[in-house]
Order: sequence, then structure tokens, then C-alpha cells
Amino acid sequence: MTKKKRRVLILDDEFEVRKLLSDYLTSKKGGYEVVQASNIDEALSVATRQPFDHILSDVFLGPDDDPDVETGLDFLRKAKAAGIDSNIIIMSGKADVDMAMEAIHMGAVDYFHKPVTAEHLFFVLRRAEEQARLKKENELLRNEVKQKYSFQNIIARSPAMKHIFGIIDKVKDYKTTVLITGESGTGKELVAKALHFNSVRKNAPFIPVNCGGIPENLLESEFFGHVKGAFTDAVRGKKGLFEEANGGTLFLDELGDLPLTLQVKLLRVLQEEEIRPVGDTRTIKVDVRIIAATALDLSKAVAEGRFREDLFYRINVLSIVIPPLRERKEDIKLLVDHFIEKYNKRLNTNIEGVSPEAMQILLDYRWPGNVRELENLIERAMVLSDGKIIKAEDLPPSVNTSISKENVDGLVGLDATDLSIKKASKVLERELIKRALERTRGNKTQACTLLEISLPALLYKMKEFGMMPAT
Ligand SMILES: Nc1ncnc2c1ncn2[C@@H]1O[C@H](COP(=O)(O)OP(=O)(O)OP(=O)(O)O)[C@@H](O)[C@H]1O
Ligand SMILES: [Mg+2]
Repeated sequence: MTKKKRRVLILDDEFEVRKLLSDYLTSKKGGYEVVQASNIDEALSVATRQPFDHILSDVFLGPDDDPDVETGLDFLRKAKAAGIDSNIIIMSGKADVDMAMEAIHMGAVDYFHKPVTAEHLFFVLRRAEEQARLKKENELLRNEVKQKYSFQNIIARSPAMKHIFGIIDKVKDYKTTVLITGESGTGKELVAKALHFNSVRKNAPFIPVNCGGIPENLLESEFFGHVKGAFTDAVRGKKGLFEEANGGTLFLDELGDLPLTLQVKLLRVLQEEEIRPVGDTRTIKVDVRIIAATALDLSKAVAEGRFREDLFYRINVLSIVIPPLRERKEDIKLLVDHFIEKYNKRLNTNIEGVSPEAMQILLDYRWPGNVRELENLIERAMVLSDGKIIKAEDLPPSVNTSISKENVDGLVGLDATDLSIKKASKVLERELIKRALERTRGNKTQACTLLEISLPALLYKMKEFGMMPAT
């Protein structure tokens, strides 16, 4: 396979210079394709019509005694304005270093002095190529990350979630602390990431910390860092999470699990915006946005003395409450489609959708594990499914026992005249217990799990309904 030759445009008013550089570049070792231009208009005209990897431009493009002579800086300005995105490299005499520096400020990628050796010229070009490659890679990466955490990736259409999108959009760029609450699996981390990756801080780090996951004796140094020798194991100084997140966002997950001792220190940092590494006498200024999340009711933790009231108020300036999935059923169908698409790619399957019966079961289920549970369930069902459609029997029994409205009517055989809730509930309970015991082949402990009641409660009800086997 022959590699495409890289292309260089040489802009210099002196024929000898163009000839020399061109000889270097087109030599066997160079292997570049070269086009020459002797003035700015000519250079702009070719460079807007054909792509070049590099443009080498002289600083002074005319006779030395002409006071109005155009310069490489003029070319640079016009080339940028024309949207030319080649690497522009300035060639200067030893005396024009200031101009070369100015060119760099204006967006030239590099400069070198004339006369230049072939080796030095190749070195400068290769370095520019490497830089361009890295820049492109970084852009791709950033776009990928941006896309991953764009709003579009939080799948929702319920008014409650749309309201949350509105809040994210309004507050994303402020440094205000945000507290995200919601049951497990509702998407708290997803919302935190959306806040960060859509904000002015998006190019700085997003650092998640699980406040309950770090041993208490290490917490302080994890958060604030330590100096060398601060404690026995501290053979090296270490940056804390606050410093790592500087300029970006620190995501304090499971904030309710943070021990009281650290709560005091966190409050101080939030108020003073500076940290003191363990064992250090100095403090360090930090610029960090805090987003916290918790599945606990923090105000209850405050009432019970497990969470400091002052910290609670400092953190809870702006709160986003993500409702459980069972309270926004409009999102279920959309999420199901989204996860089917996601896992079709990942599992290399070809599932087209969910049968109406299975969908009804999904809509009726309580979803204690919220979106995470739904995602896991869809993945599992896709693996188990025989055909292109996920059916009721592909769903796990714990979900499948949930009772749809039609089932309830059928099950209880409600007649229109008897409206006693008490009577109807009894019939329903008895039927559900019977089914659970059938499904678990009489295993009462397993039946309790399906029924979501305790074993004593099951035994009591079985006795009440005369379901106890004769012993
Ligand atoms: N609206 C949504 N759209 C798409 N995926 C979602 C949505 N909500 C949650 N998820 C997915 O569900 C999973 C759980 O989300 P996340 O980790 O953000 O929840 P959490 O509230 O932080 O849960 P926990 O309290 O258990 O830490 C993730 O895989 C996430 O991508
Ligand atoms: Mg989480």
C-alpha cells in the first residue's frame, strides 16, 4: 500500500529559498509533495483550492527597503480568515524573533530560523504532524464524551424528567452546589454527569467519589491530600480529590454516608474554597463545583443527628429530585426501546421489541431498582428470548407476578354489586399466595420474596385462609 504523500506549500518571495526547501522536501528522505508561491495572493488562492498539511511562510515577503511590504503575519491573518486549517509554520531571520513569537500567538504552530538544515526542517514538520494528530484525537474524544452525557442520552419524556432537563440547563454553568436525590437506580449519576459535561467546566475533570466507600481513617487524605511523612505510610506526598477536580466538578456520591468528622471539614472547605493537605501548614485555593447525590432522606438524617444541619443547608442550595420510575411510567416504553437498541449492538442480537402482554407487565411493575433494574431485566430477557420479540415468559418471575388491572378483575371475579374492599382483598391475597406457592413448589421462604411479605405474615394468612396443609 502506498502512503499518500503529505503536501507542503512554500510561500517565499526569494526563488533560491523556495528551490532549496523544495529540494529538501522532495528528496527521497523527505517524500513531500511541494507547491510554491511567491506572494500572499498566490498562496491564498492555491491553499483555498487544495488541501495542504503544512504551509511554510517567510516573515518578510518583499524587498527589504519597501516599508509597506506584506509579512507572514498578514498571510497568517488572511489564511485564518479564509478558514485554511493547514499547519502554518513561520520562517524568520535570526533578527525577527519577536515577529515569530507574535505569529505563534496568532495561531502559527511553529517557527524556525533561516538558513535551516534538512534535518531541522523535517523535525519541525514531524512535530507539527504529531501535534495535529493529538489535537484531532482529543477533539474526537471530547465529542464522544460530550455525546455520551448529552441530555439526549438521558432517555425520558415524562413531564417530571423534562422539568429536570430544564433545571440542568438553567444551573449547569453556575458554581452553585447541587444536591440530587432519588431512589437507587433513578439516574442520579447520569444527571450529575449531564450537569458537568454540558457546563463551562466540561473540559476539566469530573471526579466521582463514593463517600461511603472510603475507610474513615483515609478519608481526609483522600479528600485533601497529604504531604510526605504526614503519617507512617505517607512516603510520598499525594494530591487529594479536591485538587484533582480543580477547575472541574467533584461528585460526592452517597453523601449521606460521609462520617460526621469529615462533614465538619467539608463544610469548612465549601465555605473557604481552600484545602489544607494532611500534615501541611499551608492552605491551597481550589475552584471546584460540588454536586452531591444521596438515596437517603438527608433531612431525616439531620433530624436523627447523623448529618450536620449546617452542611445540609450549605449543600442543599439547589436540589434536583428524581422521581422513581413507577411515578413516571411514560418513560418505560422509551427506555425499553433504548435498552433494546443498546444491547442489540452489544450482544449482537436482533430483538425488535416487546409483546403487548410483556409491556403491560413492565408498566405494572413497581421497579424498586428503577432504571438500573429495567436495564438489567431487558438485557437478561434479550439473552433468554427465543425469537425477535420479548414475551412475558422471558421476564423473571418476580416481575411477572405483578398484577395488571385486568388480572385483578379476572382473578377476584369481582361482581359489580359487591364493593367491599375487605372481601375483595382477601380473595386476591388468597389467590396470590396460592400462585406463589405453586410457582415455588411449596417453598414458603421463596414465596415470601415473591409476595413481598414476611414469613410470619405468610404463615398467618395461610392459616386464616385455611391453606395450611394438615400436619
Ligand atoms: N433516564 C435514563 N436514560 C437512560 N439510562 C438511564 C436513565 N436513568 C438511569 N439510567 C441508567 O441506569 C443505570 C443507573 O443510573 P445511575 O447510576 O445514574 O443511578 P443512581 O441514581 O446513581 O443509582 P445509585 O443510587 O444506585 O447509585 C445506569 O446504567 C444509567 O445509565
Ligand atoms: Mg449512583
